[in-house]
Amino acid sequence: MPRLNENYLNVQDSYLFAEIARRVKSYEEAHPDKAGNVIRLGIGDVTRPLTKSAVDALHKAVDEQASAETFKGYGPEQGYEFVRRAVADYYGRNGVSVDADDVFISDGAKSDTGNITELFAKDNVILVPDPVYPVYVDTNTMDGKKIIYMNGTEENDFLPMPDHSVKADVIYLCSPNNPTGACYSKAQLKEWVDYALANEAVILFDAAYEAFVSGAELPRSIYAVDGAEKCAVEFGSLSKTAGFTGTRFSYTVVPKELAFLSSNGEKMSLRDMWNRRQSTKFNGTPYIIQYAAERVFSEEGMKECMENIAYYMENARVIAETLRKKNIPFTGGVNSPYIWFKCPNGMESWELFDYLLENIQVVGTPGAGFGVNGKNHFRLTSFGTHEKTKEAMERFDRLF
Ligand code: MLT
Repeated sequence: MPRLNENYLNVQDSYLFAEIARRVKSYEEAHPDKAGNVIRLGIGDVTRPLTKSAVDALHKAVDEQASAETFKGYGPEQGYEFVRRAVADYYGRNGVSVDADDVFISDGAKSDTGNITELFAKDNVILVPDPVYPVYVDTNTMDGKKIIYMNGTEENDFLPMPDHSVKADVIYLCSPNNPTGACYSKAQLKEWVDYALANEAVILFDAAYEAFVSGAELPRSIYAVDGAEKCAVEFGSLSKTAGFTGTRFSYTVVPKELAFLSSNGEKMSLRDMWNRRQSTKFNGTPYIIQYAAERVFSEEGMKECMENIAYYMENARVIAETLRKKNIPFTGGVNSPYIWFKCPNGMESWELFDYLLENIQVVGTPGAGFGVNGKNHFRLTSFGTHEKTKEAMERFDRLF
């Protein structure tokens, strides 16, 4: 009989968004007359189709795969150089220097932020914010690692800062934040980098929502801070930036400067370890997707993405305006596609989830799914259509 990984007993039965989908499905089955009326502003899934640049490139790459002269099989394990360069150029245009050699192409920030836990020994102290994207917690729990939490609350604008009495080895940060939409300033990120360097810790920085930052004031990458290349890994994705939630493309930057001493005094390079892990367990993102991604990172490609982002940010404005009208405190909605608000009338978040579903057929994400500090908060996404977002907020306005 196999002995199973009993750490799985310590994670919830189902992943947050799978649980929400299950509850919505069972509501729809119980109320078939209302099923067509449900508006989904829960999971952060996009509704705009792929941009023209991406679609044209996908067609071209499929044609290449149809011809013996241009057909491609397995690609380079780290990703094609043309797309790693395009990622590095994209960073460069945003004022940050990243070496294409340190860029690893993958199929999603969810996979990479989850898989990277394997590089760290079991006895590391893992520091995560609460509220938090559940993948960081679930994957470390599955691995049997010790997690400590730092509180994100209204008092600190949901932006926890280093506590020097806490000695962490691995720190997860996400900015613009999922779920709260809060963004760290450059000075705040510098404090985190200084903490990590002083404690020989590593920061795992999730930048999946960087494209939603407008203006040059707020950093879109932790590498905007000097010294971050010595202590931080960064995860980026085209899921929300270019509508690739179903197409799948992400990139992870593991700078060659990142190295830590092993117990026998040998220096181990995190970049080499990630390369070893990926080349052993992953055969790469499909060629056609990498080809399309390269076009997305071009100036023209990004311009088209920014039009879609502006579309979503208009939804964020509509959501924020309704909350303001109701005097409901919230964060996000600017520089972020997520709006994180205090549940009205003292409700708890799962209670509000049921209340909204039953009364106005609007689906959101209960804050409790992101940690104890989310117990009385709720997340709405701006990734819906204009029509449905407006309709959802009109229903919300009438309900409260
Ligand atoms: C979210 O809605 O927070 C995520 O983007 C969905 C996921 O990746 O799990």
